[in-house]
Amino acid sequence: MSLFLHFLLFSLILHAYLPTTAAATAAKVAVKGVNRQVLSLKNLDWRRQTNAANCFPQRSRTEKNAIILDLHHKDYCSKPISDWNQRLQKHILSDQIRVHALQSRIKTALFNSFNQELAQAQIPLVSGAKLQTLNYIVTVRLGGRNVTLIVDTGSDVTWVQCEPCEYCYNQQEPLFNPSQSASYSSILCESNTCQNLGSATGNSGVCGVNSTTCNYYVSYGDGSYTRGDLASDELVLGNTPIKGFVFGCGRANDGLFGGASGLMGLGRSVLSMVSQTFDVFEGVFSYCLPSVTDKGSGSLILGDEISLYKNFSPISYTNLISNPMLPTFYFLNLTGISMGGVELQDPTFGKREMLIDSGTVITRLFPSVYNVVKSEFLKQFSGFPKAPSFSILDTCFNLSTYEEVEIPTFKLHFGTDAELIVDVTGILYFAKADASQVCLAIASLSDEEEVGIIGNYQQKNTRVVYNTKASTVGFAKESCGSD
Ligand SMILES: *[C@@H]1O[C@H](CO)[C@@H](O)[C@H](O)[C@H]1NC(C)=O
Ligand SMILES: *[C@@H]1O[C@H](CO)[C@@H](O)[C@H](O)[C@H]1NC(C)=O
Ligand SMILES: *[C@@H]1O[C@H](CO)[C@@H](O)[C@H](O)[C@H]1NC(C)=O
Ligand SMILES: *[C@@H]1O[C@H](CO)[C@@H](O)[C@H](O)[C@H]1NC(C)=O
Repeated sequence: MSLFLHFLLFSLILHAYLPTTAAATAAKVAVKGVNRQVLSLKNLDWRRQTNAANCFPQRSRTEKNAIILDLHHKDYCSKPISDWNQRLQKHILSDQIRVHALQSRIKTALFNSFNQELAQAQIPLVSGAKLQTLNYIVTVRLGGRNVTLIVDTGSDVTWVQCEPCEYCYNQQEPLFNPSQSASYSSILCESNTCQNLGSATGNSGVCGVNSTTCNYYVSYGDGSYTRGDLASDELVLGNTPIKGFVFGCGRANDGLFGGASGLMGLGRSVLSMVSQTFDVFEGVFSYCLPSVTDKGSGSLILGDEISLYKNFSPISYTNLISNPMLPTFYFLNLTGISMGGVELQDPTFGKREMLIDSGTVITRLFPSVYNVVKSEFLKQFSGFPKAPSFSILDTCFNLSTYEEVEIPTFKLHFGTDAELIVDVTGILYFAKADASQVCLAIASLSDEEEVGIIGNYQQKNTRVVYNTKASTVGFAKESCGSD
């Protein structure tokens, strides 16, 4: 971009954003510095991205009393992508399927809240669905071998594809073979563990035909599923062994699982990895999600070891809201949103719970809140050529002639003290690799009754700390991809 164009653009932004009185002039620079940020479009040009053909396994290590697992975006580890446009669009489309499935699970659970038994029999487990949108993977050791798993805070049961397999999708690592592990054992269908499946997955465990194994079935609401028998084996995280870790040995699994060997459930109920490792990690884990384009990896840290975080802003904490009907999920109290330093107003702030999810990509806001956010964004990001809507994203621009743009800061406030300062890379979504269709990366829910979701696109380059013991979630700025 020429200097002149840059200047023109700059003036346009200031002009649109600031009051035009002379008195305001002095404040312009400060306001710009604090409430606006530069997004270089060049670095985000997807056509220039290269990725590792195969980066399995992800590294892991033990430090102090915690475990650090390297975390990558799944696309980073896939084969070189020839059609970025198609890939970028697929992410959004499958994201919408996940969100529909989540909403229907939540609705069913709340609708059935007067009849718990009925609810348990009928709730389909939908989170963990559509693995194409569950973007982040880690590697752990299970029964003596490496398994690379997709990380999901929205579901509980950890599972791997297992031999002998009735139906397995293609994965990069060899299939898990129980007969090769001396520490493997089946969970019996009469055990309490098997009974716990009901609250963890919505489907009770049942005895196998002619056997006493505990058969599980997790249906993800969109056609994706895993079915098999519950087992236990030694899980090794970093150097820390967890004996008798309960997981699903998946004999029939289908869905868009992208070559991973299974899924790691980081939800809140008893069968989740967080609950099963409570004695070791005290129910604390945190992640920093890198962009697909980051060369370094992010991290999933298990354990309460603040010194291992590389955050450069203090961690601000907020309380989790418990919903007994939806024990798996992490709910937060959204109390405000600010855009470019302007505090937005909406009657739902402080009144409606919002789900924080590692598997949903795009943040979904209540329609009224979305409209306030959108109009403030348009006010502060004006003068750019418009582009057509893209799927659920309706505020789009053609930025193909710009090398960089200035965008307003975007913050979500939770409870009384916590704020999630959305990273500069988490505000605009590239629907076209050449930046000719770049959209505000936030979407509206289809009605006010649905539950808002904080997606992973807005959590990038942030240390998100989940403390299930203290029942809090914390946020701090961190640069995850640069190590
Ligand atoms: C398992 O993963 C670790 C890193 O997490 C790696 O060092 C090791 O070589 C892997 N083992 C096999 C058999 O792939
Ligand atoms: C279960 O056992 C019965 C009686 O031994 C047998 O007829 C049947 O084929 C078995 N079913 C399976 C699925 O193995
Ligand atoms: C959410 O925050 C508001 C404002 O601080 C407070 O009045 C409300 O009680 C909170 N809701 C929950 C469920 O904690
Ligand atoms: C975007 O803008 C450029 C430059 O004005 C133009 O050449 C191009 O056709 C536009 N692309 C779309 C998809 O509108």
